[in-house]
Amino acid sequence: MVPAPADPHPDPKGGGSEDAEPRLDGIPEQAAEAVPQGASPEEADDGTRTPLAELPRQDFWDALYQRRSIRRFRSDPVPRELVEQVLHAGIWAPSSCNYQMWDLVAVDDPQVNERLGALSTQMANAPVNVVVAYGRNFSEENFANVQSASALIQNMSLAAQVLGLGSFWITQTGDPDAVRREVGLPEDRWVVAVLALGYPKAVPPRGPKRRPLAQVAHWNHYAGRAIPSSADPEAWEPDLLAIYQRARVLNGLRHNKPRAWETRALVSALDRLLPLGPAQGEDPRWLDVLPCTGILTERLARERRGHRFDVVERTPEVAAWCAKRAKPAGTPFVWTPDQPGEPPEEGAYAVVSCLFRLEGLRAADRAAWVQQMARWLQPGGQLLIGFVSARSFHEWTERLRARRGGPGGVEYVLSPDPNIGPFQALDPREVEGLAEGAGLEPAGAHGCQVAPQAEEVAFRTRNFPARLASLVRGAAGALRSFEALPGAASRRGRFQFRLYRKP
Ligand SMILES: Cc1cc2nc3c(=O)[nH]c(=O)nc-3n(C[C@H](O)[C@H](O)[C@H](O)COP(=O)(O)O)c2cc1C
Repeated sequence: MVPAPADPHPDPKGGGSEDAEPRLDGIPEQAAEAVPQGASPEEADDGTRTPLAELPRQDFWDALYQRRSIRRFRSDPVPRELVEQVLHAGIWAPSSCNYQMWDLVAVDDPQVNERLGALSTQMANAPVNVVVAYGRNFSEENFANVQSASALIQNMSLAAQVLGLGSFWITQTGDPDAVRREVGLPEDRWVVAVLALGYPKAVPPRGPKRRPLAQVAHWNHYAGRAIPSSADPEAWEPDLLAIYQRARVLNGLRHNKPRAWETRALVSALDRLLPLGPAQGEDPRWLDVLPCTGILTERLARERRGHRFDVVERTPEVAAWCAKRAKPAGTPFVWTPDQPGEPPEEGAYAVVSCLFRLEGLRAADRAAWVQQMARWLQPGGQLLIGFVSARSFHEWTERLRARRGGPGGVEYVLSPDPNIGPFQALDPREVEGLAEGAGLEPAGAHGCQVAPQAEEVAFRTRNFPARLASLVRGAAGALRSFEALPGAASRRGRFQFRLYRKP
């Protein structure tokens, strides 16, 4: 999309209801003229005098495209005048009605930063954390207060880039009220975010990829297909799910690492259902279906080394990504019910696995995938399905989450980590019906984790206010005492595994 040419006939009154307010005196029309450098301190400060007498220059487009989020900093202190220059660039951002109800606290005291770091580890990285707050009840319409604060933060991060500093925009600040109290802001200030500042330890050579302009920008009328924000699989067209997952995986999934409690569940299922034994035949082949992040493929390949691992995904890019995570690397294949791409060979696999992926599919697609999994198996081959059971505490935690009134969109729904799209826990009977419909015979079952594990609770409550966190931890601990009851894990365990054999 090419930028529209500048309007040659701007509204002489400035246009827009916000501009109905008189302008503050002393703010000239052109920002370039508005920044007399090195003005003497005696002159009245109308906001135009910059803290640095001489401003370093960088090409605008270089600054824009080369700015990166920097999350690792050198410990060198940042001179205050540089920080003040960054703050000054911030206050020249637009704000709703030009109210400028932002308040900034730049924290360079290591002790205060340590306390901020205790509220959220994200604030434990940089020598300076700039806490950005906005008047809680100003410009509430359409979140104009957050929009104004965001414009200020973006100005500051670009200024930091030009000044040779790195910056990192933090919204995961833990309890924002605790941050507010820590830096002494009054109650009616809303902590919108924190901008970490410092000298970068390393600058990534390239930024994370952006979604193509043609996918997100349109002329005059929206002509795209929006990625759903619902966590309900039925709301997702399969190709949109493929686009979403490809973007997330290739753009560098954050948190793309195994979670201990999930890995433990998988390893216990392997030991129970597919124990190490004499490998059946030469180089038996194992196909992992819809691995997406490849986290569990990597683990499977490590746990069951005698096999040759392949993967099948919806797009060649994600398939290639996952295949590389198996060691030695597997072969990537592509298949979907409506667009068979380069599918794996039918009747060729000793084991086919599908771990926590049926939950993200529409009901009709689940059946199609399981039937195809059965076709990929060789006679006597085994299908391992792992899923989150709807007859477990998972449903309760989801309901509690919804009642808390927090965010409800697809990225927040509880599922194996990291979340890669819609997710709905399954009734074990549905899974059993799918396998039966594909002509498979039951060969084993395993369930585990009747209650959330201690490390999972610690992880999921890490940004809760202290009292709520300890309440949740206590409740989860009490629930764990049911773990030992005979049959509890097989009936009520959150993670369920089913093994089927192809006759
Ligand atoms: C509103 C907003 C909130 C963000 N919050 C966080 C955060 O809490 N933690 C984090 O690591 N990065 C955070 N980021 C940084 C983004 O992850 C980052 O901008 C994105 O991955 C693109 O990378 P780039 O900034 O290098 O271009 C945030 C960015 C924005 C705009």
